[in-house]
Amino acid sequence: MKGVVLAGGLGTRLYPLTKVTNKHLLPVYNKPMIYYPIQTLVDAGIKDILIVTGGNSAGDFLRLLGNGKEFGLKHLNYTYQEGEGGIAAALSLAEHFVGNNRFVVILGDNIIEKGIKKEVEVFKKQKEGARILLKEVENPERFGVAEIMDGRIVRIIEKPEHPPSNLAVTGIYMYDSYAFDIIKTLKPSGRGELEITDVNNRYLKEGKLTFGILDGWWTDAGTFESLLRANNLVCEREKRK
Ligand code: DAU
Repeated sequence: MKGVVLAGGLGTRLYPLTKVTNKHLLPVYNKPMIYYPIQTLVDAGIKDILIVTGGNSAGDFLRLLGNGKEFGLKHLNYTYQEGEGGIAAALSLAEHFVGNNRFVVILGDNIIEKGIKKEVEVFKKQKEGARILLKEVENPERFGVAEIMDGRIVRIIEKPEHPPSNLAVTGIYMYDSYAFDIIKTLKPSGRGELEITDVNNRYLKEGKLTFGILDGWWTDAGTFESLLRANNLVCEREKRK
């Protein structure tokens, strides 16, 4: 199983914090943000990792992370996303790295309390397709939201005005290499991006999407409020250790 951390984009919602540096290099309590998603993959037993960077200070990722020694890794792979074409556009850059393997994608600003090892094990047993992780949130309109009927996802809506549930689609996705075929067919959304929600909906339509509910807290860190929340949650977790 391979792993991909998406740390591209311009982080404009955090301006001016991201005026001279990349969002994923900003501190979350006592570590740079990007440390957390990398650790999530490593804790799940994933050691072959690609980091997709972009925007400002892309070279700083190399200086910061090197070959991943701090995570017990021997090697890290890097690639660069030009501009801000969306999460699915960033993911398309991982095609050569992934090849025909299955892989776990994690957004570079997603931080979780616990781990995803069990979920990855479930996905390994899945014959084909994709698996996503959902989490109950108080403000679903900020996320991709799953509409559930009879215990099944019927559709996923990106940032709905009237959310059909409070189950957000977290930024942790498990895919087979078919994801790259799907991405090639996507058209930019209203916000001009290739949407990861469109990839997930396509798997859903083909009956190849499963889901789990993420254990423990989950947060992104892409707005001032969620960055503060991420800091506080990680601080509390570290103090408890
Ligand atoms: O955090 C989970 C949410 O992430 C999901 O619920 C949504 O369905 C999904 O669309 C996404 O929503 P956001 O609007 O919060 O995504 P954002 O634009 O903040 O991007 C999240 C991360 O994805 C960012 O930290 C780096 C990566 N990214 C994003 C873009 C737009 C890239 O690598 N390249 C990009 O062009």
